[in-house]
Amino acid sequence: KNILFAASECVPFVKTGGLADVVGALPKSLDKDKYDVRVVIPDYTSIPQKYRSRFSYLDSFYMDLGELGNFYVGIMTCEFDGIRYYYIDNEHFFQGERLYSDILWDIQKFSFFSKAVLSMLPVIGFRPDIIHCHDWQTALIPVFLHEMFQDNPFFRGIRTIMTVHNLKFQGVWDIQTMRRFTGLPGHVFTLGRMEFHRDANMLKGGLVYADRITTVSNTYANEIRMPYYGEGLDGLLNARSDSLWGIVNGIDYDLYNPATDKMIAENYDETTFEEGKKACKLAIQRELGMPEDPDVMMIAMITRLTDQKGLDLVEWVMERLLTSRVQLVIIGTGDPRYENLFRYYEWTRKGQVSANILFNETRAHRVYAAADAMLMPSRFEPCGLTQLISLRYGTVPIVRETGGLRDTVQPYNRFEQTGTGFSFANYNADEMLNTIFYAEQVFYDEPDAWKAMVERGMTKDYSWTASAKIYEELYDSLL
Ligand code: GLC
Repeated sequence: KNILFAASECVPFVKTGGLADVVGALPKSLDKDKYDVRVVIPDYTSIPQKYRSRFSYLDSFYMDLGELGNFYVGIMTCEFDGIRYYYIDNEHFFQGERLYSDILWDIQKFSFFSKAVLSMLPVIGFRPDIIHCHDWQTALIPVFLHEMFQDNPFFRGIRTIMTVHNLKFQGVWDIQTMRRFTGLPGHVFTLGRMEFHRDANMLKGGLVYADRITTVSNTYANEIRMPYYGEGLDGLLNARSDSLWGIVNGIDYDLYNPATDKMIAENYDETTFEEGKKACKLAIQRELGMPEDPDVMMIAMITRLTDQKGLDLVEWVMERLLTSRVQLVIIGTGDPRYENLFRYYEWTRKGQVSANILFNETRAHRVYAAADAMLMPSRFEPCGLTQLISLRYGTVPIVRETGGLRDTVQPYNRFEQTGTGFSFANYNADEMLNTIFYAEQVFYDEPDAWKAMVERGMTKDYSWTASAKIYEELYDSLL
């Protein structure tokens, strides 16, 4: 059976977030004997040369896109790690350092991409049984497929899956403009289809037209059927709840393995983590210019600095948090408000706070290995990969009980000595701070309990093995 993944980003070529990790890892975990899985992404000029130099040119053609005119579609291809990749080339849309810019431009760009993905299929002679779309950038694929490609027998019977990695981003613009950009007929822009509060909504189109909808954890699949998490689409998701699956993400266990990771100071596993993590902690303290102390509790945040991630809670309690014996290490970029917040604290609390306002894979791995705890107080979290990587590296997650965080971190129970992390329920700064203080208390006063918790976390299986099986069931249910 043929499966085509369509997405706006994919590890190792381009990444801004967890979406890229999933699109990079899941295809490799599916049964190669049963499925021929291929992946298509834009041919961004920012894809590093070391990959680009291995691309080869397949074909090209011109494609019309509504009133925007005719556009060149180049098809590049390459095989990496046993997976066939296609890259849609168009310099007008895909040049520059950043994958995303202002929304209007992105809407044009991904309308183009979505239509180009379908248009290229007969050209390359690959007919997918299922096209698996990811997030709003590829949500128009099911719409185009049903509204514009049915005349061609090649396309009849192709099924589609819409996976939501983040419901917050939907690709919304006024109907007039969207009609011009897509060339889609008027009836598509009505309430039962893409219309959304008098505008046009690309993700909604995907959710209406796709044969199945999935999201990246069970809890999030339930949450988005309620107004608080539904981002205005809870009604539709309820109506389609029979077709809605929650499948939790895994992580790539080859990429994230403290026993073999070449980026960290010392390798370790679930039997040697005490020594290993101490060595890693000393090394990163040196690298970041913090006091070298293997016994101080290091709390990390490796995250996009956006409202989703609960940073306003952290802002609220920062002063009080820093009165306790902790070192805080932040890695990430995003909203200038939060970038400056952490820069400010690094400046005033030199040595106690390290603000790394950047995106650096190597440093991230080193901090995963060095830190004792990982803070994730998300307002919402479709899945979250950081806590999974943390568990694997023996770094205890402190999370808010939402979405995938709730599904993958079992709260510590002092009486039964169970659990793999700490959690709190409400989006409330004091609740978060109390939970952090509780974690500190266990860390300093009950080292054996802490150690046992780390061990439990490290031996949990959050690889793709189990979830890939569920995706296979999903595919089979459509064929
Ligand atoms: C988005 C979500 C995150 C999820 C990731 C991969 O980045 O915010 O929770 O883990 O997509 O599915």
